[in-house]
Amino acid sequence: MLNLVFLSFFSEKSWKTSLEIDGESTEITLRPMEKSDEEDFNEWSTEYKVTRFCTVEAYIPKNDHSLKYSQYRAIPNIWFRVISMNNKAIGFISVSPNFGLDECRADLAYALAYKYWGKGIVTAAVKVVACKIFSEWPHLQRLEAMVDMENKGSQRVLEKAGFLKEGVLRKYLVKRGMPRDMVMFSLLDTDVGVSNKQVELKI
Ligand SMILES: CC(C)(COP(=O)(O)OP(=O)(O)OC[C@H]1O[C@@H](n2cnc3c(N)ncnc32)[C@H](O)[C@@H]1OP(=O)(O)O)[C@@H](O)C(=O)NCCC(=O)NCCS
Repeated sequence: MLNLVFLSFFSEKSWKTSLEIDGESTEITLRPMEKSDEEDFNEWSTEYKVTRFCTVEAYIPKNDHSLKYSQYRAIPNIWFRVISMNNKAIGFISVSPNFGLDECRADLAYALAYKYWGKGIVTAAVKVVACKIFSEWPHLQRLEAMVDMENKGSQRVLEKAGFLKEGVLRKYLVKRGMPRDMVMFSLLDTDVGVSNKQVELKI
């Protein structure tokens, strides 16, 4: 029942931004997943480079790390958008809310197909979410992201999007049998009042 109440609170809106890729202005859309996206997801969501630092396995069955539409629809309590370029699903970005005393904060996650790395796409997507999510979710005061200590690319994305690096959580989780140190980043609603302007100018 709680899930249904919360899901109805999520909007199905798409958000757009544009950035220059290889000298051309390119539109990036953050939109709900469609059944037809499965094929695109299958191309990249099983690549070791992509899944190496992801915890997306938590949502999907063992031995099949591709994200199926039906599984996506079944993920409870998560705001999930496909990162789409020319209507091709090249990545995802998600925000998972918390409940009760923890409802002031939510967790950000994302991944992108390897061949699109290094073009500023996820930074642009994170900036859009950071810019809009606090007004979509009025109770939200803190958007946080926990990144593997070795995942320098993801840490850089968050820095570029205005998140504050708060510190290292030592041996915070176990991934593929290995304890991992995680870096905690956060962006507050009060930070967005300042960084909102920068986000709009830079994108
Ligand atoms: C992390 C990830 C989302 C970044 O997406 P992206 O669109 O390539 O990111 P951007 O191009 O916006 O920015 C990447 C930045 O990291 C930097 N970077 C990448 N690898 C780096 C490394 N090994 N060391 C230091 N900086 C690195 C890039 O140079 C760039 O910074 P710059 O613009 O200052 O040069 C993408 O690599 C990915 O999907 N990784 C696998 C999934 C994942 O790790 N998800 C996050 C889990 S917390």
